[in-house]
Amino acid sequence: MSSAGPQGLQAVPKELQDRESWLEPFEWYERMREEAPVRYDPERRTWDIFRYEDVKRVLDDDAVFSVNPREADDFVEPERPGEGLIFDTMLFQDPPRHDELRGVVDDWFQPRALADREPHFRELAGELLDDAVGADEQLDIVKDLAYPFPVTVIAELLGVPSSDRDRFKTWSDTLVEAASDDESVDAFADRQQQIQMEMAQYFLEMIEDRRENPQEDLLSVIVTAESSSGERLSQEEALGMCILLLVAGNITTSNLIANAVRCFAEVDADLFDELRGDDRALTSAIEEVLRYRSPVQAMSRVATEDVTMHGETIGAGDRIIAWLGSANRDERQFEAADAFRPDRSPNQHLGFGYGTHYCLGAPLARLEAKVGLSELLDRVENVQLAEAPLQPTRSSFIYGVESLPIRYDER
Ligand code: HEM
Repeated sequence: MSSAGPQGLQAVPKELQDRESWLEPFEWYERMREEAPVRYDPERRTWDIFRYEDVKRVLDDDAVFSVNPREADDFVEPERPGEGLIFDTMLFQDPPRHDELRGVVDDWFQPRALADREPHFRELAGELLDDAVGADEQLDIVKDLAYPFPVTVIAELLGVPSSDRDRFKTWSDTLVEAASDDESVDAFADRQQQIQMEMAQYFLEMIEDRRENPQEDLLSVIVTAESSSGERLSQEEALGMCILLLVAGNITTSNLIANAVRCFAEVDADLFDELRGDDRALTSAIEEVLRYRSPVQAMSRVATEDVTMHGETIGAGDRIIAWLGSANRDERQFEAADAFRPDRSPNQHLGFGYGTHYCLGAPLARLEAKVGLSELLDRVENVQLAEAPLQPTRSSFIYGVESLPIRYDER
């Protein structure tokens, strides 16, 4: 492995390397919560944290658990241009710079700002589904809805042509990919590098354009914004922000939508009927999907000082993976944690993280999931998963399936 990639998240623990265990990692999590809630994995040179309270503590304490990969003892500064752009984004910066960067785009992602766009989002999802729902009464939730819908939405918000969306998908998929045994370390690093260069080039041109011709879009906000310290974003920061927004909001939201259909179909076929036309029930069921099959299973941190948890001492400079997907199944926090309860309340899941880095796009992801699923429910009934073997997303921290074929009756 290279310097373990941007977050030390590119390596999959050996226990989750085969297809079945990454499709259903939950039994392994349970065993780890019980037997080794804080453990060091020498192969990945990483600490793993599995219990809810501990994961929450790690996410909540920026001073002791930094998001900045440069704090890691084994961090290697990228040598090639463009490769480190993502490190300059809010996701990898601690306060105070974090807050200044996030402040540039925060307003755009508030629920009130998004509410005005809901009718348009409905049209987008509706058009995709009208193209897909038809006489053969089969569709692929991922290909026909869950992938194209979020990428179209974020492309529109940013102000980049949604006709480039296949390119965006390749970029996002590559950036979250896990290193695999089929490829050499160098080939993997080269592919990642190549993609980052392509993205940088793409956005550089867009940014130049918006400097000349500002529009009503996020790209224009990013290029014209003064951060709250009164300093413009550097070009690297502006590029990093574009890349982060494009990548963070796509595959995550795709997987939320597809995981939702998977959960609903597995639990009870009647659930689709119960949720149809009932936005409150649907909203609550989506929260349960975020807990039960969390699209982001893991996040990384670096200890800034020695810290002892469950008798284990994590050294300053050590990497840590906080397993959100395990925290969300912790029976110490959730009653009947392994049951999917669409009306669960309270439901303090960590699917969007916690604290300073709590997902900026959470209101957008929730809205997209509600709109996409309700447009689907309006058009189909008697939904069943087709009998095809599921293929997990090729990533060590993003959780979902590559494709989800369903059968249904048209309404
Ligand atoms: C279901 C969909 C999504 C899930 C599960 C998700 C999950 C997460 C999580 C767990 C974090 C915390 C990272 C950490 O603590 O290190 C995060 C941060 C972030 N997310 Fe999301 N996300 C989703 C959708 C989106 C969307 C739609 C966008 C925007 C277009 C977005 C943008 C961001 C950004 C910018 C951050 C960094 C925030 C910060 O550092 O302050 N996410 N997300």
